[in-house]
Amino acid sequence: MRPFLDHDEHSSSLPAKTMVEFLLSSNLLETLPDAIVAVDRDGTIVQVNSQAQDLFGYDRNELIGQKVEMLVPESYRRQHHHHRENFAATPKTRRMGADLDLYGRRRNGSGFPVEISLSPVYTENGTFVLSAIRDISDRKKIAEELRRANEELHRRTAEQLGEYRSRLALIIDSSEDAIISKDLKGIITSWNKGAERIYGYTPEEVAGKHISLLAPSDRPDEIAEILQKIARGDSVGLYESVRVAKDGRRLNVSISVSPLRDAKGDIVGASAIARDITAQKQAEAQLHQSQKMEAIGRLAGGVAHDFNNILGIISACAEFLRDRIDPAAEPSHYVENIRDATERGSSLTRQLLAFSRSSTIQPRILDLNERLKDISKLLRPLMGDDVEILIVSKSPAAVVEADPGQLDQILVNLAVNARDAMPHGGKFILETGGAKFDEAFAEQHQTLAAGKYVLLAVSDTGGGMDGATASRIFEPFFTTKEPGKGSGLGLATVYGIVKQSAGHILVYSEPGHGTTFKIYLPSADHKIGLGSKPEVETVAPKRQGTTILLVEDDEIMRGLTRQMLREHGYTVIEADDGKSALEWVESHPGPIDLLLTDVVMRHMSGPELVERLSASRPTLKVVYMSGYTGELIAEREVLSRGITLLEKPFARTALLNTIDTALG
Ligand SMILES: Nc1ncnc2c1ncn2[C@@H]1O[C@H](COP(=O)(O)OP(=O)(O)OP(=O)(O)O)[C@@H](O)[C@H]1O
Ligand SMILES: [Mg+2]
Repeated sequence: MRPFLDHDEHSSSLPAKTMVEFLLSSNLLETLPDAIVAVDRDGTIVQVNSQAQDLFGYDRNELIGQKVEMLVPESYRRQHHHHRENFAATPKTRRMGADLDLYGRRRNGSGFPVEISLSPVYTENGTFVLSAIRDISDRKKIAEELRRANEELHRRTAEQLGEYRSRLALIIDSSEDAIISKDLKGIITSWNKGAERIYGYTPEEVAGKHISLLAPSDRPDEIAEILQKIARGDSVGLYESVRVAKDGRRLNVSISVSPLRDAKGDIVGASAIARDITAQKQAEAQLHQSQKMEAIGRLAGGVAHDFNNILGIISACAEFLRDRIDPAAEPSHYVENIRDATERGSSLTRQLLAFSRSSTIQPRILDLNERLKDISKLLRPLMGDDVEILIVSKSPAAVVEADPGQLDQILVNLAVNARDAMPHGGKFILETGGAKFDEAFAEQHQTLAAGKYVLLAVSDTGGGMDGATASRIFEPFFTTKEPGKGSGLGLATVYGIVKQSAGHILVYSEPGHGTTFKIYLPSADHKIGLGSKPEVETVAPKRQGTTILLVEDDEIMRGLTRQMLREHGYTVIEADDGKSALEWVESHPGPIDLLLTDVVMRHMSGPELVERLSASRPTLKVVYMSGYTGELIAEREVLSRGITLLEKPFARTALLNTIDTALG
C-alpha cells in the first residue's frame, strides 16, 4: 500500500519523493526500537512500524488512513488535537507535551502512559510528523512505587519522631527532678512537672519569665555566671546551691547545667536538672548535730575527769589543813570556803561526766511504772502547788535496765525545767508505754537502733520553745535562763544518761503549746523472761485509688510520711500548712478520702483546718499526728478525746494500720 502516492501524483520532485518514501518505508522504521507512527499535516496516519502494531494491538491496515487520535484515549483527544496544531505551527524535533502526562489507547480500549518524541519530515507535499512512542508504564510504576516508599518513609519517620518525642516528654515529666531549659538570655523555655512540684510554679506561670525568678537575693550573680559558661560551650557539673520556691521557701538544690544545641550545633540555650536536697541537708544537719554533741561530750568528759582529780587533791589538802588549824581562828574560815567551792566543783563535774556518758553506773532491771510511783512523791514538793502531776501507764509493765539514781536524775531535771516553763501552774504528765522500731525506722532516725523500747514521755503545758532553742537544748551550758538561774547542764545530763543507756531522746515543742520529751529506753522484757514470743507485725492490705491529703509543716516528716503512704498504694496530696491545704481542696473538687494532719502548725492548727473543711467535706475522715502525747493534747483541750491521734515518731506499720482503721 502506498498511501502517499496520492500526494506524489501532484509532486514533481522525484528525489524528494524517493527520500520521503525511504524515510517512511517500514523497512527503516522497523529498525527503530520505539513504536513509530507517521502522520501527515491533517493527522492522518500514513505509516506505522510493527512495534506500533504490537503496542496498540492494531494491524497496519487498520491504522493507515485513520486519524491518529484513534490511538489516544478519548478524554485526551481534544488536547492531542491541540498539540498537533501547535507542532504544525512550529515544527521541530522535540518531546511532545513536555511535563505532561501522555497516554496511548490500545485497541481493546485500555490506556497506558507514553512518552512521545516528535520529528518533522519536510517534503514537497508538506510536512509529515514521525512520532516515536514509548510505553512508560513500567517507569511510571517504579516512579509511583518510589514516591509511595518515600511517603511511607516520611510518615514512619514522623511517627517515630513523634513517638520518640512523646516518650521523651513522658520521661522528662515523670522525673522527680526539675528539668528546665532556657535560652542564652535566661528566658525559661520549658518546665517539667518536677520543676512545678519542687518550685511550685506552673509552666504557664513561668513561660517567658527569666530564670532569676528562682534566685535568692543573696546570690544575684550565680545564674548569669552559669549562662556565660554555657554560652562558651562548657557544662556545669553537679553543684549545690539555694533556690527560692513560689511560696518563698528556700530550697537546697543540687544542679547540673549543660548547653543546648540546635541542628547546626550552635548553642542556643541551657538545660538544667535540679534535685531538691533540702530534706537530705536537714538530715545531714541532724547528723552533724549529733556528732557535735559527741565531740562536746568527749571534751567535757575529759575536762571533768581531770578536773575531778584536781578537785580531789584540793579537797584532801583542805581536809588536812582543817585538822591542823584552830577552828576558832580566822584561817579556818578560808578553809571552809575552799571546801564549799570544791563541793560545788565536784557537783558540776558529776553532771559533766553524766553528759559525757562516763559516769560509773549500776544498772538494774526495774519497772519504770513502779519507779514513777515512787518518784512522784519526790517531785510533788519540787513542783509547787499549782502544778498537777499526772501519771499514765499505757502498758502493764515497762521493764528497763537502768541505774535508778540516773533515772531519778532524768526525771528531776525534766521536772525542774517543766516547773520553770509553767510559772503560773499547769500540768506535768508522765507517761509510759511500749514502742517497737523496725530497720526502716531506725534508718530514718540515724541515732536509733531497731528493736523494742520502753517509752517514757514527759510533758508539760508550759510556754514551750521555738525551733532555734529546741535545736540546742541538749548542749551543755545552753540556757535561756537569767544568769544564776540555770547552768544549762540539766538536759545535757539527761541526754548523756539516755545515750549511755543505749536510748534515744526526742523533743516536741512549739511556743505557747507546751513541750513533750520522749525518751526511749531499750526494753529489758527478755531479761525477765517476758516478751520472748516473737510478735508478727501485720500491715493492713494495700488500698488502691485512695487519696490522702497530708498536711505537715516539717519537711522531713512530710517526705518520710509521703513515701510510706505512696509505697502502700495511696495517692498523696501534700501541703505544708493548713492554708495551702484549704486552697488545694477549694480548687480541686475531686475526692479526698482521708486527711492526715499535724495538730500544732503555724497559722492554722489541724483541728482548725478540719473545722474549716467540714462545710465542704462533711464526711472527710481525719487522722491527727503529733509529737505531743495524746495525754498532753487532751489536757490542753486542743483535741477532744476519742479522736484518732498518731503519735510521732511512728513506724510504718503504725501509720498504715491507723489509717486503715480510720478509713474503715
Ligand atoms: N519544759 C521546757 N519548756 C520550755 N523550755 C525548756 C524546757 N526544758 C528546757 N527548756 C529550755 O532548754 C534550756 C536548757 O535546759 P537545761 O535544763 O539544759 O538548762 P537550764 O534549765 O537552763 O539550766 P539547768 O537545768 O542547768 O539549771 C532551758 O534554758 C530552756 O530554755
Ligand atoms: Mg534545767
